[in-house]
Amino acid sequence: MKLLLIGAGGREHALAWKMAQSPQCDKLYIAPGNAGTKNCGENVPISVNDFEKLKAFCVGNQINMVVVGPEDPLVNGIYDDFKADARTKNIPVIGPSKAGAMLEGSKDFAKAFMQRHSIPTAKYKTISKANLEEGLQFLSELQAPYVLKADGLCAGKGVLILPTLEEAQKELREMLDGMFGNASTHVVIEEFLSGIECSVFVLTDRKDYKILPEAKDYKRIGEHDTGLNTGGMGSVSPVPFATKEWMQKVEERIIRPTIAGLQQEHIDYKGFIFFGLINVMGNPMVIEYNCRMGDPETESVMLRIKSDLVDLFNGVAEGNLSTRSLTIDERAAVCVMLVSGGYPGHYQKGFPIHGLEHAGESVIFHSGTAKQKNEIVTHGGRVLAISSYGKDKNEALQKSFATAQKITFEGKYFRSDIGKDL
Ligand code: AMP
Ligand code: GLY
Repeated sequence: MKLLLIGAGGREHALAWKMAQSPQCDKLYIAPGNAGTKNCGENVPISVNDFEKLKAFCVGNQINMVVVGPEDPLVNGIYDDFKADARTKNIPVIGPSKAGAMLEGSKDFAKAFMQRHSIPTAKYKTISKANLEEGLQFLSELQAPYVLKADGLCAGKGVLILPTLEEAQKELREMLDGMFGNASTHVVIEEFLSGIECSVFVLTDRKDYKILPEAKDYKRIGEHDTGLNTGGMGSVSPVPFATKEWMQKVEERIIRPTIAGLQQEHIDYKGFIFFGLINVMGNPMVIEYNCRMGDPETESVMLRIKSDLVDLFNGVAEGNLSTRSLTIDERAAVCVMLVSGGYPGHYQKGFPIHGLEHAGESVIFHSGTAKQKNEIVTHGGRVLAISSYGKDKNEALQKSFATAQKITFEGKYFRSDIGKDL
């Protein structure tokens, strides 16, 4: 098969690494990819939202399947766009339709969906300028801290957690006044839930689903979860509190009603569903849905999938996922992110990266890198994901930290407490 993977981050390098191992993968293209995905296939310089160019590329290169990594093109309707074009309508796209991607593209849609299908989540109200008073009133009925979420996509930055009612009321007005542009013309106010988070991933063909290994990610820049939020500083799989019993609750209360709800509402969904969960006194609740895999969770999760990922994708495309096998590696897998100095604030790009040949027992996934002349240089805030296996997470972490020390670039930073809270 000839496959086209869309995206350019660490998640896509990990997907490309796994897809390229499939005996069914004759040729893998990545659009646009990064300096690391070049080792798994051929990069194609087309941006993820340029559907016309992507379709023309698929037609010109007899692509048999498209796999979509990031949320942006999904929320923009890449699935529907391929289906609506006579030239590409028979090329399977792994990823939901635009309607399905609304689970991530609109927090209000996701909350209302969960309410319709009795899926456990925090109490909420959606507010626009038209019902601001109702929002101020709802805030005053909640306990601190206060959670405000921009309805639309904000590249992970649209959630504010405020310690006092005054700040929450002030920020609510500012969000509605365009703090996040059009994404915050509607704001979801939520009850704050206290607990540990866990990311659960499902691959679905609409009828059936497979539960992939779960993972925990580390969002804050500073050790012990301090400082600003980032795109993710590391991940660990499995998650100790995600026991068989807990995962059974997740499946019964969250996964099954979600799949059934999508069917009932005639939403075309063939791809990954990412359940951002929180464990509230032993009970899983949904913090958010995403319509794609997580980053940096994928950089751990892919290591733990033993089966042929392309075969699973074929099951999704053909609607017979239940006939495909998913086997999971018993070992632990972790990922430690190396980031640019200053990230998630201002940082410089273009610093040469040394020591990539010292991967040792780790797998190095590129996140924000580029090739300049004959050098690999930093090209983003999150630069490299250092992933490793171990008999347990501690052994895996030791390997990732050892590799993280050997790779150098100006301003390199990583969190050395990944996984230590578990
Ligand atoms: P989201 O973009 O919805 O995942 O929110 C970003 C982060 O904010 C989550 O990963 C949580 O750490 C936190 N968060 C979101 N909603 C809540 C909530 N209702 N209670 C507590 N923390 C939350
Ligand atoms: N790691 C969280 C996300 O991918 O949204």
